[in-house]
Formats: sequence, structure tokens, C-alpha cells
Amino acid sequence: MSYSQDNMIPFIDLAAQQAPIRSDIDKAIQAVLDHGKYIMGPEIEQLEDKLAEFTGSKHVVSTSSGTDALLLCLMALGLKPGDGVIVPSFSFAASAEVMPCLGAIPVFGDVDRHSFTLDPRRLADAKASADAVGINVVGIIPVGLFGQPANMPAIQDFANAHGLWVLDDAAQSLGATQQNRHVGQMAKATATSFFPAKPLGCYGDGGALFTNDDGLAEIAKSARVHGMGKNRYDYERIGMTARMDTIQAAVLLEKLKIFPDELARRQSCADRYSAALKDIVMPQYLASDTTSSWAQYCFLLPQHVDRDMVQKRLMEKGIPSVVYYKMGIHEHAPYAAYPLAQNGLPVTAELCQQILSLPFHAWLDEMTQDYITDHFAAIMNDLG
Ligand SMILES: Cc1ncc(COP(=O)(O)O)c(C=O)c1O
Repeated sequence: MSYSQDNMIPFIDLAAQQAPIRSDIDKAIQAVLDHGKYIMGPEIEQLEDKLAEFTGSKHVVSTSSGTDALLLCLMALGLKPGDGVIVPSFSFAASAEVMPCLGAIPVFGDVDRHSFTLDPRRLADAKASADAVGINVVGIIPVGLFGQPANMPAIQDFANAHGLWVLDDAAQSLGATQQNRHVGQMAKATATSFFPAKPLGCYGDGGALFTNDDGLAEIAKSARVHGMGKNRYDYERIGMTARMDTIQAAVLLEKLKIFPDELARRQSCADRYSAALKDIVMPQYLASDTTSSWAQYCFLLPQHVDRDMVQKRLMEKGIPSVVYYKMGIHEHAPYAAYPLAQNGLPVTAELCQQILSLPFHAWLDEMTQDYITDHFAAIMNDLG
């Protein structure tokens, strides 16, 4: 086995994933071409039913993307212009951008140094800074970062004490569990993404929202189609176009069949990485009551190590590495005016400096895993 800058290991190998199910996917797409119901075809309801079965959630509403799933949840939760929502800054922009889209305000909280997810112990600081400038905080959006749900019971306790709702941004964490509950059941509403590189990805954009609340599901379904009521062209509320394409649902129905097996493969790869790397770096900590869908395998480099140099040396061996995330969302210009938790976001700053992730996917074979961890260990040893 030999890799180099000209022959890199894929960071995520969607082709390897497609190979074993390609003929089933071809048939599923062919069936959509044959029946021609490209919008809200029968596969949409089939997928929503299967996802409800998989997660145990009462309602599933498929959507055109994870971002639209978040937006529909916020619309259904009744978010108003000027309201505040606590969200980690250490996340992908979509977690926070949906608030300004509705005229509301992201209030940035800090994350926990071990789990990398929203720190429940710092929620009071986030709320205090919003309170201080007269922003009415109405909800919290924890993020299931890199596949791992945040500490949902502690976050829910804070939410209950202050009359807030919780919306789980599970774009990266579908398939994970906590205290034997599946993602999709850990909050009043949950949004996920089926972006191709996600643990359960389609072949374009797609997403879904999950809730046990009949009222929320009804509003989200209506807002997904321009706020339509029971009768077509009867508009009950402001909405948008946020439906999933039938073809994406057909692809996902096939991919969902192998998803449990893929989750097990991801777990095994994560276990092997952790065994090889735990004395060299600080892998994302997983609480004993929590499982991860391992969207990414991320860890913290020791403080003194030059991350750029590690990445350069890995590249020479044909091993790509990615920094999720180089900056907190609050550091990007469009978010600069939004409030930060009192006492700042020191852990976010630290993680942005030290975090790194290695190639990771369900079909990464053990020989390649060993190639990656052996070279990584040797480089770290060299860099002292
Ligand atoms: C944490 C998080 N939230 C939301 C999204 C948005 O999902 P989508 O790209 O499907 O709109 C993503 C996607 O990358 C994400 O990682």
C-alpha cells in the first residue's frame, strides 16, 4: 500500500459506499423515472415512515436540506424577530444562520473541552449576556457535533428551569443514541441533514425534522409547501419550498437499509483509531450513556504541536486531514454583532487552535486505518 500527494486516501469515500448498493440504487431511481412523481412521490412517505420506525419519533417531515429542516422547526416553534436562541459557536454556520434568516438572534454559548458539544454549565452565562441587553431568550439549539449528541438531559434541565424549548441540530448525529433514546427523540424538535458526506447521505441535498408534537409537525408540513392548508392553494401561514425530491427519498430508502451496518463499521473504525491514538492526542470524549454516529473522527493535538506542520507531513504520505472548525461562527463577519456568553468562549478558541480530523468513513479498511495511524504516530513522535 502506497499513498502520496498525487495518490491521496479519500477523506470520505462515497464511491466505496455506493459500490455494494449501486444496482439497488439504479433500480430505485429507475422506479421514480417510471412513475414520474418527482415531487412528493410515494417514496417520500415511505422514507418518512421508515425514519420514524428507525428513530422512534412520532412524526418525520422530510425536507430539501438540513438547513431548511432547522428553519421549519424554528417556524413551527414560533420563533419571532428579536427573540434570542442559544447556540454553540463551535459548529457549522447553518446552526446559527437560521436565526437571522427569521429576524432572530443567535446567542453564542461555549462548548465542553472534552465532548466538544454545548456546555450546559455555561448556558447561564449565555442567557445572562442576552438578558443584559434585553434579548428574550426563547430556546436552545445544541449540536450533535461530529456525530455525538450534546449532554441533552442537562441542557433540557436548564431549558425547563427557564421555560425554553430545545431544538436538536442533529445534522451530523442521526443514528446516535443517549440513555437508550435515538437522535430524533431527545428534544422537542430535531433537524438532520442528508448532505452526501453525512452519516446517512443522499445524492444531493436533503434533510428531515423529527418531533413527537402533533402541532409542530402539522405547521412544519404546511410551511414546507408555502404554508398550504388542507386544500391546495389555501394558504394558512407564510411558508416556503422545502420539500425533499422524490429521487433523493428513493436513494435514502436504499441507503437506510445498510445504515445500521454502516454505523457499526464507523464504531469499529473509531475504536481502532482511539486505541492507536489515545496516548498521542485527546480524542472527542464520548459519555458512557451516549453513542456516536461518528460523522467525523476529531481530536485535539497537544498545545505545543504545530498543526500546519502535522497536516503538511500527513499530506506527504497521501493522508488528507481537515480542521473542523478553524474559527468559531461568532468570529465570522456576519455574526460579529451577536452576543457571546459572559466570560467569553475560551474553549471554542482552544478547540479552533488544536482540533484536527483524519480520513474517516464506514468503508475505510483496517489496512488503510493502520497506514493512517502509524504514519500519524510517527509524525507526532518526530515533532516531539
Ligand atoms: C451542524 C450542522 N447543522 C446544519 C447543517 C446544514 O445541513 P445542510 O447542508 O443539509 O443544509 C450542517 C451541514 O453541514 C451541519 O453540519
